[in-house]
Amino acid sequence: MLGVVFALLFYVATILLVVGLAMKIRKYAKTPAPLKIPTTPAPTTTGGVVLRMLREVIFFESLFKSNKWIWLFGWMFHMALWLVLIRHLRYFTQPVWWWVEIAQPFGTYASFAMVVGLGGLWARRFLVERIRYISNPSDHLMLALLIGIGLSGIMMRFVTHTDIIAVKAFFLGLMRFQIGTLPADPILMVHLGLVAILMIIFPISKLLHAPGVFFSPTRNQVDNSREKRHLAPWAAKLEQ
Ligand code: HEM
Repeated sequence: MLGVVFALLFYVATILLVVGLAMKIRKYAKTPAPLKIPTTPAPTTTGGVVLRMLREVIFFESLFKSNKWIWLFGWMFHMALWLVLIRHLRYFTQPVWWWVEIAQPFGTYASFAMVVGLGGLWARRFLVERIRYISNPSDHLMLALLIGIGLSGIMMRFVTHTDIIAVKAFFLGLMRFQIGTLPADPILMVHLGLVAILMIIFPISKLLHAPGVFFSPTRNQVDNSREKRHLAPWAAKLEQ
């Protein structure tokens, strides 16, 4: 029974996540950028823009320049999240890829950095007057959700433990459209329930900044307005 409920939940969540994200990305890609507005100093070549974008998504360069505290906690959380997610690939692959095996201990301890980073970002929303004023319920909800996922994961890893072999068999089964059974551990239910909620709301949440950053005109445009006249497609039509 439990297996069926979670199987349906994860199938629905996966469809909403994939289709929702695809629709949002399509919309971003089709949104016109009528003006040349790269934040200067900006690269003057496409190669330069690729490098700038890489620095932005790997090091959070512009955030570093604007606020060191937010950068510290934000960068810590995101990099730790990567390690945690890479570690989780072991539940969905058999045999487990070698680099996922190597990442296991790093992913385990990154879980603490993930929660500390989120804690710092959340504290800022209460302690900094200016930020408290502009924080809305969804800002708090996202942080609570991610911290809930992190803490329930850490609980399973270090305190209560669950049958991870059974969890893996269940998810490998789902990927082959076979519904198996899931250990009835309360913390596992919480962990998986929160993950499903995260997947469902991702395409309608602020977490869309993950794909969105690549479509930001202030970051992805080449500073060549003197060499090449920028013409939005609709403006080009008017000129004909
Ligand atoms: C369907 C997807 C997921 C499954 C099946 C799953 C399952 C698990 C399990 C079984 C553990 C305990 C590991 C152990 O005892 O060794 C765990 C830990 C953890 N999970 Fe998840 N999880 C999922 C998604 C996520 C996501 C999306 C996040 C982060 C946003 C996350 C964050 C964590 C953390 C931080 C830990 C503790 C550190 C670790 O053991 O890796 N999980 N997860």
